[in-house]
Amino acid sequence: MSDDSRPSPTGVRTAVVIPAAGRGVRLGPGAPKALRALNGTPILIHAVRAMAASRAVSLVIVVAPPDGAAEVKSLLDAHALPERTDILVVPGGDTRQESVKRGLDALPPEYGIVLVHDAARPLVPVDTVDTVIDAVRQGAPAVVPALPLADTVKEVEPAAGPEPVLSTPDRSRLRAVQTPQGFDRATLIRAHETVTDDVTDDASMVEQLGLQVVAVPGHEEAFKVTRPLDLVLAEAVLARRRLTDGF
Ligand code: C5P
Repeated sequence: MSDDSRPSPTGVRTAVVIPAAGRGVRLGPGAPKALRALNGTPILIHAVRAMAASRAVSLVIVVAPPDGAAEVKSLLDAHALPERTDILVVPGGDTRQESVKRGLDALPPEYGIVLVHDAARPLVPVDTVDTVIDAVRQGAPAVVPALPLADTVKEVEPAAGPEPVLSTPDRSRLRAVQTPQGFDRATLIRAHETVTDDVTDDASMVEQLGLQVVAVPGHEEAFKVTRPLDLVLAEAVLARRRLTDGF
């Protein structure tokens, strides 16, 4: 990476790409996951608001289901969002990776820092977003918010019946990784041009380039809404916030 593509400590503009083109089959039949309501507001709107809550974020690019860009646009128009934040909607692809790539293709040149945030993480606190951005501003090419694990993790040989356990990694060295993940723009674009393997997050593509990815503290409220029980938990978090915010 050339020196001039490194973010300077201040003055670099930050955009967020939100891949929201997944079907969300694990939540059961119905609308795509990102469009499901949480407390009466679509999960995607919560996620956009969570990103726009950071004063450092001036553009959010929402990657919509390929056949749902118009629906997503009218949804965004129908909900209040901070005026200082620009919003773009682009159609997604068949895989998460392809959807992120389409978001990056729409990124205007003046943005030096890019965050990638799963629409399925609607409740990430603004402090987590700002911690990620700060670490990129300080020169890290790739930053992930991460939490220690409560469960012990086993590597198994996948099988239809009982699965043989192969190993038990040292839990103290493991982290559960969340989003938003933050990147120096040139690094993320190079990763998406270079790495073609199937991956489950963007930072692992940067790892494959041989660059250092760093982890900063994540937050328990940044969990991914994946299964029906996650919707119950998300509603509970929102109810608690309403109480603490006093309305
Ligand atoms: O399936 P998973 O929960 O890992 O998806 C993570 C994020 O990637 C979700 O926000 C989902 O909407 C998005 N995604 C996408 N395009 C796809 C598949 C998933 O934007 N083709």
